[in-house]
Amino acid sequence: MKSYQRILSGVRPTGHIHLGNYLGAIRNWAQMSLETKEQLFCIVDQHALTTVVDSENLKENTRTIAAAYIACGIDPKKSAIFAQSHVSAHTELSWYLSCFAPLGWLNRMTQFKDKAGKNKENANLGLYAYPVLMAADILIYKATHVPVGEDQKQHVELARDLAGSFNSYYKKEIFPLPEPIISKETARIMSLRDGTKKMSKSDVSDYSRIHLLDDADTITLKIRKAKTDSDPIPSSKEGLQNRPEAENLMGIYSALSAENIDALCSEYSGQPFSSFKNALTEILIESLRPIREKMQHLLQHPDELDKVLYDGADIANLLAEKHIKEIREVLGMIPRR
Ligand code: AMP
Ligand code: TRP
Repeated sequence: MKSYQRILSGVRPTGHIHLGNYLGAIRNWAQMSLETKEQLFCIVDQHALTTVVDSENLKENTRTIAAAYIACGIDPKKSAIFAQSHVSAHTELSWYLSCFAPLGWLNRMTQFKDKAGKNKENANLGLYAYPVLMAADILIYKATHVPVGEDQKQHVELARDLAGSFNSYYKKEIFPLPEPIISKETARIMSLRDGTKKMSKSDVSDYSRIHLLDDADTITLKIRKAKTDSDPIPSSKEGLQNRPEAENLMGIYSALSAENIDALCSEYSGQPFSSFKNALTEILIESLRPIREKMQHLLQHPDELDKVLYDGADIANLLAEKHIKEIREVLGMIPRR
């Protein structure tokens, strides 16, 4: 059995948590938790501010992500579940790391280019510095492994590079070099409306994604409307090449059923997508029902969710404070009283 020392990951509380977040990230965290000594799962509310300043909904969105973590199988008794803003050392370390981050490295970040779009001059500094704060989230705990979807690989690699350059500048192994852990099969769940775009919280169309809080009728409708092509299901996986929507739907079924795509193709070979969609709808409804019900139950008790967040922050702060003291000392600051 593989054993991870300390894992850390996070989700932005910026909107509806979806199937891509579940299959690409949170489901794997719950599995890895069984093989890990220490685990910290953060709700990155400060990162959320780089794209949406939604003060009215931030508390609720943060609790929704906490509820999703628990409903997807993360046990708050074994893992620290907390809000990023409850541990001040993240932003402090972010500043120190930013003094080590060459602009050339940040200029290569594809997420910034995507999010800033053509109008870079108007993009905010927070969006540009986003990967440095993410590096701080990871390094403040000296995390060794970071389970994420494919889109975050470049950011984790930046954290690794920053850790390496900090260590070598101070000639001390302060930070372990964190490794991204990406589950190959579910690294990129694609939009239901366009198989070349990833499923994302920020897509304007609700029909592009399945939300973890969607009920059975909504899931049925979204899968019925999901884009496919007019060809029948091929007899093997190779036949899905250049058919991104078809490949995505079969990938989702496979991820939920643990049946491989070749087996699925031979089972449905020659049939139109409509019959496969019925099976997909059914497995989605059955797989997501317990998650939705548990989330709804948890969200009815916001005080209990807040208690989970406070307890998680206590654990996270203990570790973060110990590390930030060591870092300040290495940087040459006069120790605090
Ligand atoms: P975000 O929604 O950007 O806060 O992402 C939270 C986590 O979910 C990160 O680890 C992402 O890499 C992962 N993730 C987000 N969207 C997808 C997707 N469409 N497929 C796979 N993983 C995803
Ligand atoms: N950037 C990640 C995303 O968009 C969220 C995130 C912030 C994160 N800090 C992190 C993920 C630290 C892993 C580790 O999804």
